[in-house]
Amino acid sequence: MTENFKRTLITSALPYANGPIHIGHLAGVYIPADIYARYLRLRGEEVLFIGGSDEHGVPITIKARKEGLTPQDIVNRYHKIIKKSFEEFGITFDIYSRTSSEIHHRTAADFFYKLYNKGEFIEKTSEQYYDEESHQFLADRYITGKCPHCGNENAYGDQCEACGTSLSPLELINPKSSISGSVPVMKETRHWYLPLDRHEEWLRNWILEKHKEWKPNVYGQCKSWLDMGLQPRAVSRDLDWGVPVPVKGAEGKVLYVWFDAPIGYISNTIEICKKQPEKYGDWTKWWKNSDTKLIHFIGKDNIVFHCIVFPAMLKADGTYILPENVPANEFLNLEGDKISTSRNWAVWLHEYLEDFPGKQDILRYVLTANAPETKDNDFTWKDFQARNNNELVAVLGNFVNRAMVLTHKYFEGKIPERAELSDYDIAVTKEFCDLKRNLETNLSHFHFRDALKEAMNMARTGNKYLADTEPWKLAKTDLQRTATVLNIAMQITTNLAIAFEPFLPFSSKKMKNIINKQDLRWSDLGSIDLLNAGHTLNQPELLFEKIEDETIEHQIRKLLNTKKINDTKISTAKPIKEDIDFDAFSRLDIRVGKVIACDKVPKADKLLQLHIDDGLGGRTILSGIAAYYRPEELVGKNVCFVANLAPRTIRGIVSEGMILSAEKSDGRLAVITPSLNVEPGSSVK
Ligand code: 2FM
Ligand code: ZN
Repeated sequence: MTENFKRTLITSALPYANGPIHIGHLAGVYIPADIYARYLRLRGEEVLFIGGSDEHGVPITIKARKEGLTPQDIVNRYHKIIKKSFEEFGITFDIYSRTSSEIHHRTAADFFYKLYNKGEFIEKTSEQYYDEESHQFLADRYITGKCPHCGNENAYGDQCEACGTSLSPLELINPKSSISGSVPVMKETRHWYLPLDRHEEWLRNWILEKHKEWKPNVYGQCKSWLDMGLQPRAVSRDLDWGVPVPVKGAEGKVLYVWFDAPIGYISNTIEICKKQPEKYGDWTKWWKNSDTKLIHFIGKDNIVFHCIVFPAMLKADGTYILPENVPANEFLNLEGDKISTSRNWAVWLHEYLEDFPGKQDILRYVLTANAPETKDNDFTWKDFQARNNNELVAVLGNFVNRAMVLTHKYFEGKIPERAELSDYDIAVTKEFCDLKRNLETNLSHFHFRDALKEAMNMARTGNKYLADTEPWKLAKTDLQRTATVLNIAMQITTNLAIAFEPFLPFSSKKMKNIINKQDLRWSDLGSIDLLNAGHTLNQPELLFEKIEDETIEHQIRKLLNTKKINDTKISTAKPIKEDIDFDAFSRLDIRVGKVIACDKVPKADKLLQLHIDDGLGGRTILSGIAAYYRPEELVGKNVCFVANLAPRTIRGIVSEGMILSAEKSDGRLAVITPSLNVEPGSSVK
């Protein structure tokens, strides 16, 4: 370590356990964090890499309600799926835990309680929407109504998904509770707030003066928040899912998900240190020793919470270290469109592995080579194919395979003895040393794309070296020179196995297997004496395979189908009326009747008078369908009608029932007819 740090605590944003994870998550947060963790471990440094599921928050409760399950059922399902995806992609968390765990609840509650006792919160009463039928305050997402901007009738209290505008529930026209359907009322509620304004001064100094090295996107976002002036932020919510607020009189209130989630980093540290104290030591050394370097890997939507709110929480406690860096990434788009869970516009990790089993490293490679480090980037399947075919296969795979095959061919798979190096050999071997330095500079500054490029350039150098020296020709005339060239080529291969390990761990492992050398460390990088003369290689094995056009076209078609589904306008039906019991339903007597005669009702534009054979001697029914049917169109038709509706007199005519019609979205009525010819008077059930 160059600075005065003895160990590194790496955290990666805890993903919400309300859906599986996709390439955007991987590219933005988990691959960079994993590269960094692997790199430091390879250097022999002390590292703790924390992951876990964020299992609280309103969206999880909404999903549970929709599916008729409990929030715990939902998070159990997705925690398992997410954890498996991370394992499959080789994300080397030291712990992947969850915020619904008991240890997290306790840690978060204790954290809150300490701040509460220290007077670090303020309490405020405000008015919020309350559902009097279901007896609960409504989170913004639980309120729907008409969007004041575009007129969408189903806008949420925090956002209109039709026009994308952020809303407050107070802006909604005709707000309704999506729990009971009732009109919510305003009611006073009391909450705890973290007064960020009290922290503004030290935050300004700490970020804007002491951390000018933070990435421009991170620094810039913090600066604009600080320049707007910080306001107190509520740290509790009226909700029945989360960490209960641990003070008297706070029944029905939980910690706001963004208060408890970052504490998840701490509780997960406590959990793993308790489980494996001999390996990780006491948890406080990771969080309370100034010789620990804390790095948060996150996406750009999490910047304010990790650079301002969480540091303010840690400072308010007073015994914690603060993050040294927060290398947040921008977003990854997919084929030119924002990745969206609700529109299923994503490449899901579990689906990728179904289609590309064992090919984790290709995705790791493409997502790093194209990482949204400085701006939003686009993932396209064509680029995925091109990077695989032109870089992994044609450069790295090709070089390693040629070096291996030639050594097998001319030296029976044993590293040949080197003779004196030529100037060219020396220039090439010097590149290893440059590679090490360049990788270190880039990795320590979180420039993972550039680091990967450096490693790939080394493989390019290797290819060029073989193309220039042509050992297959040399072997006919100068076996000693061939031996030197192939010795160097195999040293390059060994260096590549080290250099690529943080990025392509599966392929690096394969490389170590085929060269038959496992014990390689970062400090070995740059050496040309990693494989001794006489060392026996294993059989060559292809590292990567070409991806054919059809495979890519299949993936593109899959996405296009998603688009078609998304673009099909799904009509929005009226909300379902309140439940009735079966008894209420069976009191309705619906029958089929044949229209014997039909006339307009004088002076009533909308009404038709129908004479129905109801199998019981006949009856008259008035129906408001004159705008949609000419009387003669209905004569002879079988229609459905409510037979036991109390008679009503309309325009002097007694109407004995109601004709059933379906209402189209434009208001047009279409009478309901049975699909088979049935006798008049038949019951409709
Ligand atoms: O944006 C998200 O997916 C959040 N669940 C990230 C939480 S990060 C941390 F605070 F846990
Ligand atoms: Zn709108």
